Amino acid sequence: MKQTLLIAAALAVSAPAFALDGATLYKEKTCLTCHGKDAKTPIMPNYPKLAGQNAAYAEQQMKDIKSGARSNGQTAAMKGVMHLVNDAEIKALSEYLSKLK
Ligand code: HEC
Repeated sequence: MKQTLLIAAALAVSAPAFALDGATLYKEKTCLTCHGKDAKTPIMPNYPKLAGQNAAYAEQQMKDIKSGARSNGQTAAMKGVMHLVNDAEIKALSEYLSKLK
């Protein structure tokens, strides 16, 4: 009995890590409002298309934008939402984006 409870508790704690779904995050974290539902029809012509991007590259860019290491005339718009995502979510989003066609 005690063991069952422990297992249940362990599952409850680890569930969020497994539940990270890039497609859901992409909607929930407002990414689609700027980059488009399909990640390739941005609202502004000078905003980047993300579909099919190399996952490691996308992950690094997001981390750099969040930290301020990447900063140019357009970065402010993107930086404004980066507080919504942690490193694990950035990774899940990058993997999701890399698989879009
Ligand atoms: C308010 C509009 C806006 C929102 C919301 C937004 N972005 Fe961005 N995003 C931008 C802009 C503008 C850039 C270009 C920034 C730059 O040039 O430094 C960018 C850049 C990026 C890049 C780097 C692209 C490259 O080729 O280097 C990635 C990856 C990205 N966004 C993913 C996301 C994800 C994932 C979300 C949701 C968590 C998101 N963005 C939300 C506007 C936005």
